[in-house]
Amino acid sequence: MISIPNQTPSHRIDRRIYGQFAEHLGRCITEGVWVGSDSAIPNRNGIRTDVVEALRHIRVPLVRWPGGCFADEYHWLKGVGPERQPMVNTHWGGVVEPNDFGTHEYFELLNQLDAEAYINGNVGSGTVAEMQDWVEYMTLDDTAPMAELRKQHGRDQPWKLEFFGVGNESWGCGGNMLPLQYAYQFRQFQTYVRNYGDTPISKIACGANADDYTWTDVLMANAAEHMNGLSLHYYTIPTGSWSAKGSATDFDEYAWHETLRQTRRMEELLQRHSAIMDRYDPAKRISLIVDEWGTWYDVEPGTNPGFLHQQSTMRDAVVAALNLNTFHRHGDRVRMANIAQMVNVLQAMLLTDGARMIKTPTYHVFDLYQDHQDAGFVAVPSSYTGAPDGLGVDGDVTVSRKDGGVTISATNTGLDREIEAAFELPGRISDVTRAQILTGADFRSHNTFDAPDEVALTDLPVRIDGRRVRFTLPAHSVATVRVTHGD
Ligand code: AHR
Repeated sequence: MISIPNQTPSHRIDRRIYGQFAEHLGRCITEGVWVGSDSAIPNRNGIRTDVVEALRHIRVPLVRWPGGCFADEYHWLKGVGPERQPMVNTHWGGVVEPNDFGTHEYFELLNQLDAEAYINGNVGSGTVAEMQDWVEYMTLDDTAPMAELRKQHGRDQPWKLEFFGVGNESWGCGGNMLPLQYAYQFRQFQTYVRNYGDTPISKIACGANADDYTWTDVLMANAAEHMNGLSLHYYTIPTGSWSAKGSATDFDEYAWHETLRQTRRMEELLQRHSAIMDRYDPAKRISLIVDEWGTWYDVEPGTNPGFLHQQSTMRDAVVAALNLNTFHRHGDRVRMANIAQMVNVLQAMLLTDGARMIKTPTYHVFDLYQDHQDAGFVAVPSSYTGAPDGLGVDGDVTVSRKDGGVTISATNTGLDREIEAAFELPGRISDVTRAQILTGADFRSHNTFDAPDEVALTDLPVRIDGRRVRFTLPAHSVATVRVTHGD
């Protein structure tokens, strides 16, 4: 039995933890989001209506764009105005990027999603002036040249730019820099990311690759006063080896457990990076932003290796739940995360094939977790602090409070046993406003274009007894129960 305390939540779970990442990579933007207004695929201003509708349903709070590695070779002027200038996407398949989805189309997508902007600027191959001009183009409201250019391109009002990343993976594809070298670059570039509008821009510095704690230390020591956020990238690779990552769908029980072991490293990474940040920023002014996370497998057979197209099974659903639970626990420092990536790439929410679109098991977890967005975090035992009382070693759980209700999300990470989950609320339960579960016939179950609902949410029977709620979690499942209670 897990007892849910009545105490004031220790911190808020920022809705931006549910952020998405959309890069010009494979079929994420082109086809996945952008089809152009002449397309036979239903669209509004060139953006797929099925994709927007699905993403609105899970209340996507913000989208990071245009990369990733792509960001550090993106020259934004090629993607505005009537004459777009194509470029080669050197990182991702060497294909020609037509630049027909640029700044204006990105803000149109955000408008349709009702989401915030997180743009990643080019430090690796760009100039300070180019970055300054882009910020002016987006946010300046007067007769200055960049604002005039925007108006010529059909947009009078500046846009709101909430977040701006100064370089991406500057230790790798973004310029192969050393930590102190990047700290100096960050200090210089960020100077010209100026605030013109009413919305101050949060400046995000490029953070560490997984467990590179030196990077975090050097950045915090040399540039903390200029940043609002420091990023972290960590991908879950079942084998831990980039050269043979393993299949997304054809895997055994050993690979299931290894994948979960790899994903659980996120806990240690957040603890240790946060501890370093605490030394320089004890008031936690600077956010730790996990702006790339998720599973990374070998690409689907027969697809372009540079397109990073992979399927998503119940294993990905459980990975998503474990990571979201981890972000919730660290929500006093982790105030944004962006799963990689939104459509058709890596651990995607949605997969498309021409006019068809399917929701992945990962999408359904984001749906199940909606009520945690901007809710108060309630600390309960989790599998990181020892086996949660009553859920055993295979159980993991996260709890939050919002709008007079308590949301409990519980996961069975095991493959052979069901778990009898039991929770005791501080008062008599008056209503159950949501009770749904996600599972599959098999731990490899996934959705296909021929069987789009193989893995889908179903109603979960719950048993209420005064202050107690009980339900059964079958093997490899994720569930959410939301209740209201009296005193
Ligand atoms: O998400 C795919 C790639 O992974 C990104 O472009 C890069 O930042 C990371 O290495």
